[in-house]
This record gives sequence, C-alpha cells and structure tokens, in this order.
Amino acid sequence: MTPFARSPGFARWTTPILLSACALLSGGLLLFGGCPSEPPDDDSPGFSNITDSTNDGASYVGSSACNNCHADIAALHAGHGHASQLVAIKGVAPTYPQPGAEVPNPPAGYAWTDISYVIGGYAKGALFIDRDGYILNTGVTGVPTQWNLDFPKNGTSAGFAAFEPAASERTPYDYARFSHQTTGAHPQDPDEPLFQENRPGFLGTWAEAGVQCEACHGPGGKHFRTVGDSVRIDRSRIFVDPDGTKSCKVCHSEPFSDQSGKIAAKDGYIVSTAQYPELRASGGHRDFACTICHDPHRSSITDRANAVRNACTGCHTTQNMAGHRGAVLTRDDGYTETLACESCHMPLAAKRASTANTAVLGTDVHIGDTRSHIFRINAAADNFSQVLSADGSEVLRDADGRAALSVDFVCLRCHNGNGIFALTPARAAEIAARVHQFPE
Ligand code: HEC
Ligand code: HEC
Ligand code: HEC
Ligand code: HEC
Ligand code: HEC
Ligand code: HEC
Ligand code: HEC
Repeated sequence: MTPFARSPGFARWTTPILLSACALLSGGLLLFGGCPSEPPDDDSPGFSNITDSTNDGASYVGSSACNNCHADIAALHAGHGHASQLVAIKGVAPTYPQPGAEVPNPPAGYAWTDISYVIGGYAKGALFIDRDGYILNTGVTGVPTQWNLDFPKNGTSAGFAAFEPAASERTPYDYARFSHQTTGAHPQDPDEPLFQENRPGFLGTWAEAGVQCEACHGPGGKHFRTVGDSVRIDRSRIFVDPDGTKSCKVCHSEPFSDQSGKIAAKDGYIVSTAQYPELRASGGHRDFACTICHDPHRSSITDRANAVRNACTGCHTTQNMAGHRGAVLTRDDGYTETLACESCHMPLAAKRASTANTAVLGTDVHIGDTRSHIFRINAAADNFSQVLSADGSEVLRDADGRAALSVDFVCLRCHNGNGIFALTPARAAEIAARVHQFPE
C-alpha cells in the first residue's frame, strides 16, 4: 500500500502553509486600502509561524476582527460546532446554524432570563448556566437539567435528562470545563482570584466565548495593524499549528491536564473529547495530524462531504468492504445508513450526552453518541469490559501503546433485530475475525 502518494489532500499535512503561499516582504506585507483580494504574484512560501502559539506575546482581539478580512473562512467556521461551544443568552432561546439544532426551553422552573449561557446545544446535548455562573445540576434543582437533542443513530429523541443527580452544591463553571469551550481561557490565580463577568461561579476568565479563531491561531493582536489609511499584515505573527499538538490536542485530550496518552473512560464509554490519545493509540494512524483528515474550519456535522479531506479508501485503496459493500441499514424507526468503513471502524464508543435507547435497539447494544478514533477492532473481545481497565477508567493499551475496541461497540449497533437480523455478541465476534475475507 502506498497511501500517501495516492491521496490528493495529503500534502496538506506536511505543508499546510504552502496552500496560502503569498509573498512576505521583509517580515511584513504592506497593504493599501484595507484587505487584499489577491495574494502577490511572487509564489515564494514566505515565513510562517509554526512554533510560537503566543504570537510573540500578542493580545486577543476577537473573531469579529478576523472576519473582516477572512470572510470565507469565517463563514465556514460559523457552521462548526466549535463556534457554538458556549453561547451567550439574551433572554430568549439560542439559535444555531446547524440544521435541526434547537434548545427550545430552559429546565423546568427557569425562564431564559435566568440563564446567562448555554453550553453546546448544536448537535448532541446542552447544559444551562445561571446568572451567577453556575451550571444547573439535577441534585440541587431537583429537575432534569441537561437537554438532549434528537440523535437518530442511537435511537434517542429530544428531551431533558439528569445532570449530576448526586450533586449537593451548585456546579461552578471552572477552568477544567471552560478551557475546552472558550478562547483565551485563564485558570484562576488563588492569590488574585478573577471571575469572568464578575459571576461567582466562573472560576477564571476567557477572552471570547466558544472555540473561535484565536483558540487555534493564538492571539491576533500583532498580526495586523492600521497605519493611516492602510493596514499592515504580519503573517509571521499568527500561529498555524503544523500537527495539532498545540491546538487540537489541548482540548481533544481528556482529562484536560493529563497528557500521558491515557484514553479516559467513564460508565463504560470513552469520554467525548479523547480524540487525541485515541489517535495516538490507533496503530497505523498514530503519527497523523488531525488535519490530514479534517479541514479545521469545516464542521463534520453540517459539512461532512467537505470536512473530511481524505476518504479511507483514498489511502486504503485495496481494502474491501468486509462483505457489506452497498449494504444499507433501514431500521423500523425510520433511521437509515449506507455502510461505509467508519460504520465499523469509528463506532460510537464515546459519550457526550446520550447512550443507546434500549427500547429501540435492545439490551445487547453498547454505544454512545460520539465516534471513536481508535479504528482498530479486537475481534476476540465481545464485551466492552474486556477492552477497559479493571476499574473502567481507561481503555487498555498494549506494550506498543495500541488500543482496540470490542465487537459489541461495532456490530451490535446494527445487528440487534431492528430492521435487520440480530447477532449475539459471541457470534458477532466469531464472524468479525474473518469479515474482511467475505467475498464482495
Ligand atoms: C486587515 C486584514 C486582516 C485581519 C484583520 C486578519 N488577517 Fe489574517 N491574514 C491577512 C492577510 C492579507 C494574510 C496573508 C494572505 C493569506 O494567507 O490569506 C493573512 C494570513 C493569515 C493566516 C495564514 C498565516 C500563514 O502563515 O499562512 C492566518 C492563520 C490568519 N491570517 C489568521 C487570522 C486571524 C486568526 C485573525 C484575527 C485574529 C486575522 N487573521 C485577522 C489579513 C488579515
Ligand atoms: C480548530 C482550530 C482552528 C480554528 C477554530 C480556526 N482555524 Fe484557521 N486554521 C487552522 C489550521 C490547523 C490551519 C492550517 C491549514 C489547514 O490545515 O487547513 C488553518 C489555516 C488558516 C488560514 C490559512 C490557510 C487557509 O486555509 O486559507 C487562515 C487565513 C485561517 N486559518 C483563518 C482562520 C480564521 C479567520 C478563523 C476564525 C473564523 C479560524 N482560522 C479558525 C485551525 C483553525
Ligand atoms: C479550545 C478547545 C478546542 C480546540 C483548540 C479544538 N477543539 Fe475541536 N472541539 C472542542 C469541543 C469542546 C468540541 C465538542 C466536543 C463534544 O461535544 O464532546 C469540539 C468538537 C470538534 C469537532 C466536532 C464538531 C463539528 O462541528 O464537526 C471536530 C471535528 C473537531 N472538534 C476537530 C478539531 C480539530 C481538528 C482541532 C485542531 C485543528 C480542534 N478541534 C481544536 C474544543 C476544541
Ligand atoms: C484518519 C482520518 C482521521 C483523523 C487522523 C482524525 N479524524 Fe476526526 N474524524 C474522522 C472521520 C471520518 C470522522 C467522522 C465524520 C462522520 O461522522 O461521518 C471524524 C469525526 C471527528 C469528530 C466528531 C466525532 C463525533 O462523532 O461527534 C471529532 C471531534 C474529531 N473527528 C476530532 C479529531 C481530532 C481532534 C483529531 C486529531 C487528534 C482527529 N479527529 C483525527 C477522521 C479522522
Ligand atoms: C492519509 C492516509 C490514510 C487515511 C485517510 C486512512 N488511513 Fe487507515 N491507515 C493508513 C496507514 C498508512 C496505516 C498503517 C499501514 C496499514 O496498516 O496498512 C493505516 C492503518 C489502518 C488500520 C489498521 C490499524 C492497526 O494498526 O491495526 C485500520 C483499521 C485503518 N487504517 C482504518 C482506516 C479507516 C476506517 C479510515 C477512514 C475513516 C482510514 N483508515 C483512513 C493510512 C490512512
Ligand atoms: C462490517 C464491518 C467492517 C467494515 C464495513 C469494514 N471493516 Fe475493516 N475490519 C473489520 C473488523 C471486525 C476487523 C478486524 C478483523 C480481525 O481481527 O482480523 C477489520 C480490520 C481492518 C484492518 C486491519 C486488518 C487488515 O485487514 O489489514 C484494516 C486496515 C481495515 N479493516 C480497513 C477497512 C477499510 C478501509 C474499510 C472500508 C473500505 C473497512 N475496513 C470496512 C470490520 C469492518
Ligand atoms: C451500520 C450497520 C452495520 C454494522 C455496524 C454491521 N453490519 Fe453487518 N450488515 C448490515 C446490513 C445492512 C447488512 C445487509 C443485511 C441484508 O441484506 O439483509 C449486513 C449483513 C451482514 C452479514 C450477512 C452478509 C452476507 O453476505 O449476507 C453478516 C454475516 C454481517 N452483516 C455481520 C456483521 C459483523 C460481524 C459486523 C461487525 C464486525 C457487522 N456486520 C457490522 C449492517 C451492519
């Protein structure tokens, strides 16, 4: 297999910067009359900053400033879940660019005027923050406080669910949470405690709500400046992450402070922001940057066709469909899915908000609502407990650091009797071991 040579988008991994190649005149590009529409003729790559994510100690300016000159990218980013990780509420229900995304009401007993922010809500689940900066939990309020959206893949429908039912105190919105969901987050200094917007539940500060431009590119304060009628651009003072280790990794590792490679799990599911350690444990893909497969500005939810740059088969040119070529799952509840490599290799083994509705999919199914990036399947394991540590807190890795998922995460999501024949976990495992040898 010679995957790299045949994969058209692959060049973006090693040389993403060349794509926007444009001249740089001794460290700064002088522009007249505002933003340019054409890069200069000179096709030299220029100097790009791929090492200093602080951009030489610059300050945060906010994405509306970036959007003035990078309107095309801003339009894409607006549809990405990143932009809606934390949404300020102005007395009415939030709106989202994602089709079908809706958080119609706050929890029972609350009005929108009691809510300062909603966390998420664009695809899977939403949580509500009160005006004091505390996340409403079920233990203290006595009502379900997590809104789950429709999620047809695992058979769940929209509705409220419990969040932290055992809590006896209000849940502060602390750094461990908001560092994933904001831009320019700062933990609280115990000697000089700061509270975002002076709300006592916000333990620390951030520059902008949501994962916006400067969360990945670093603060933009030195990237451009106005000199009289013209704007001076300095490309070397904006950060472009070459491999995701200084941007994606920071948020897509869980727990946030643990960079040991541990793939954290809870209640039998991988946590929903563990893609970085998962990928490192994937064997064949361990050295991949996230941007080999992902366009960082395009949503995998709203713009799936363009968001993923390299199809599996672009690299795995000779791999067959494991006896499932052209198969279409059509369930009795109306859900349909055309089988693809990721139907099996990226199972919903992680959980953000919901797990399978057993009334729809039966009790052998073990799936959450977020795709795994482990890719490897262990056909000898028919129960999830076999691929987790004894205490269930992480996914097991072998001596080479590789992980693999059990077949109940994979085959049982479909082969459970709803619209298609059922397999027991043991039978699924038996077949899984030779599934790529099936005739096409
Ligand atoms: C006044 C116009 C202007 C503003 C405002 C602006 N940029 Fe740029 N930016 C440019 C130009 C011009 C270039 C060079 C041409 C290109 O790569 O598109 C550039 C390049 C970039 C690059 C590529 C750098 C490289 O090495 O290839 C990134 C990333 C970037 N800008 C991000 C941002 C972010 C983030 C913001 C907001 C903090 C921002 N820009 C604000 C005009 C602007
Ligand atoms: C999730 C991280 C992330 C966010 C958020 C993000 N970018 Fe980027 N951006 C990247 C990465 C990584 C690249 C490198 C090129 C690639 O892989 O496409 C890039 C490339 C760029 C480039 C240069 C190459 C190009 O595609 O033209 C510009 C300009 C840019 N981003 C501007 C922005 C602006 C403006 C925003 C906000 C509206 C933004 N980015 C938000 C990660 C991000
Ligand atoms: C500041 C934190 C942060 C950074 C930096 C970040 N992400 Fe995310 N990203 C998140 C959070 C939080 C979610 C939502 C996760 C969830 O729902 O469990 C998310 C969701 C996503 C999604 C799914 C949503 C969608 O609309 O497609 C993709 C894909 C993604 N991130 C890719 C990336 C990539 C690639 C990078 C690096 C170029 C990156 N992220 C950098 C925090 C971040
Ligand atoms: C080998 C290709 C590949 C690599 C490398 C890769 N991804 Fe993905 N990623 C995908 C595909 C394919 C999807 C699924 C899109 C879909 O649902 O159809 C996806 C989906 C996601 C999602 C959404 C999951 C969900 O179910 O909500 C997130 C978040 C994400 N990727 C983050 C990352 C991050 C962060 C990295 C780097 C650590 C990364 N990805 C590396 C291929 C890749
Ligand atoms: C950019 C190229 C590329 C893309 C895109 C890609 N792969 Fe791979 N994959 C590789 C390489 C290289 C290896 C390691 C060599 C091998 O095992 O053939 C690999 C290995 C694997 C393995 C074996 C892992 C192990 O170590 O046991 C699986 C399974 C796999 N890929 C599935 C997928 C799936 C599913 C997709 C699409 C979501 C995908 N790959 C996308 C290049 C790619
Ligand atoms: C019906 C589920 C299913 C589908 C669809 C599927 N696979 Fe697999 N694949 C498996 C299972 C199960 C294994 C592990 C088999 C074993 O233990 O030998 C596997 C193993 C692999 C491996 C590693 C072993 C090997 O044969 O080299 C690669 C690479 C791979 N698949 C790639 C792909 C790609 C690419 C696609 C899409 C063209 C795909 N698979 C579609 C279930 C599937
Ligand atoms: C996304 C749904 C989905 C997943 C995941 C899935 N399958 Fe299937 N499978 C199907 C569909 C749809 C068919 C076609 C059924 C039909 O034609 O009635 C099928 C057919 C089959 C067949 C019959 C093939 C034939 O030649 O007639 C077997 C055996 C099978 N699957 C085993 C597995 C195993 C083992 C796994 C896990 C490694 C798996 N499937 C994963 C949906 C799925």
